[in-house]
Amino acid sequence: MASPIPGDREKVTSKLPGQLRARVKVRAAEYRLDMQDVVFHALQAWQTAVPRATVDTSGAPPFSTWLPPGVYEDFKARCIDRGVSYIQGLAQALELWLADHPSPQEEHVATIHPRRRIMANQKGGVGKTSLTAGVGQAYAEGSEYGGPGQRVLLIDFDPQGHLTTQFGVDNLGLDSDSLVKHMTGEAKGDLADLVVPITDERFGDRLHLLPACADGFVLDVKLSTIRAREAALERALEPLESAFDVIVIDCPPSLGLAMDSAIYYGRRRPEEKTGASGVVIPVQAEDSSADAFTLLTGQIEDLRQDMRLEIDYLGLVVNMYDSRRGFIATSSLQAWEEIGDPAVIAVVPDRKEQREAVRSKQGLLVYDPKCAQAVAMRKIAGALS
Ligand SMILES: Nc1ncnc2c1ncn2[C@@H]1O[C@H](COP(=O)(O)OP(=O)(O)OP(=O)(O)O)[C@@H](O)[C@H]1O
Ligand SMILES: [Mg+2]
Repeated sequence: MASPIPGDREKVTSKLPGQLRARVKVRAAEYRLDMQDVVFHALQAWQTAVPRATVDTSGAPPFSTWLPPGVYEDFKARCIDRGVSYIQGLAQALELWLADHPSPQEEHVATIHPRRRIMANQKGGVGKTSLTAGVGQAYAEGSEYGGPGQRVLLIDFDPQGHLTTQFGVDNLGLDSDSLVKHMTGEAKGDLADLVVPITDERFGDRLHLLPACADGFVLDVKLSTIRAREAALERALEPLESAFDVIVIDCPPSLGLAMDSAIYYGRRRPEEKTGASGVVIPVQAEDSSADAFTLLTGQIEDLRQDMRLEIDYLGLVVNMYDSRRGFIATSSLQAWEEIGDPAVIAVVPDRKEQREAVRSKQGLLVYDPKCAQAVAMRKIAGALS
């Protein structure tokens, strides 16, 4: 990398512990700086900094670099003032530079948001709930099962409560606190108290569910009187976010204010990478799915423009696919694939295991971990990582 500091340079030779040199080299690359320039800035900052802790430099191998003329002479004079060797001074200067230049990667980890996947389609019965449950399980599966072992929160945002009952959990009673009451400011307790673990050895203690409540049937009416209603879901879920790596939202089959708040929740936040969060759209290989898709993307585009949001489409999942249905199925699949953006990230076959898992109130990946649908759920989770 060419140095941005112009002018002649003189060669300077000293010693530097190998481990410290390696750390500086990596950090310099992260900041796209040349090693010479790092040393230059480090020596200058050290000369005016408060005295630093002694660094162990015993057995340090030789190290040389190039500095503008005079810089090293000034530095050596300061070492003499401070009563430290030149080798010690250099090591302290580079430790100081490292402390002043934290790794951007570590900063990213510290401020990261849970990835949010919004499973949306106002068309009923296309697979939003199955996809939410299956993908959530795939994220939570432990490494001993080949999974990523992430902490997952599934949100049953559909008052029908299918996701909740699918896991054998009761829907919340109408007089109980609920996500909706947290969105509308009527809740009495903590939202975290409503979260239930979905236990199985495959998921350890990582998979969780926020159950549905029938009060969601009137959510649109309630939201219509609330200020900044698009952000209501985000405000309610914010206290839970730090406990999870992934939050998956099972949306209702409708296109109203509640859906706006779910789409808003999946928007790209200012410090998030493209595709870290967003909307996943399950569809079927049949003509009526195409009309529903146009309506949904229209609503997303309106929200994007009205509120100047960045909303990423994470992909289409063509669900319940059965090529034996002939030309309608194959040509519809081709039409979905031709859209290109959002891309088709998986085609999930129509098989009995999904319905059997629902009937047995077990997660699909527990009921039949090797079935084609379970394999597809892992593939989708991987594509959305
Ligand atoms: N790949 C599949 N193969 C077979 N059956 C499936 C598949 N995916 C989902 N199903 C079944 O189809 C039905 C509808 O699926 P699901 O409940 O996931 O759709 P949905 O979009 O959430 O519906 P709603 O709009 O009512 O919320 C369920 O009985 C489910 O078990
Ligand atoms: Mg559903």
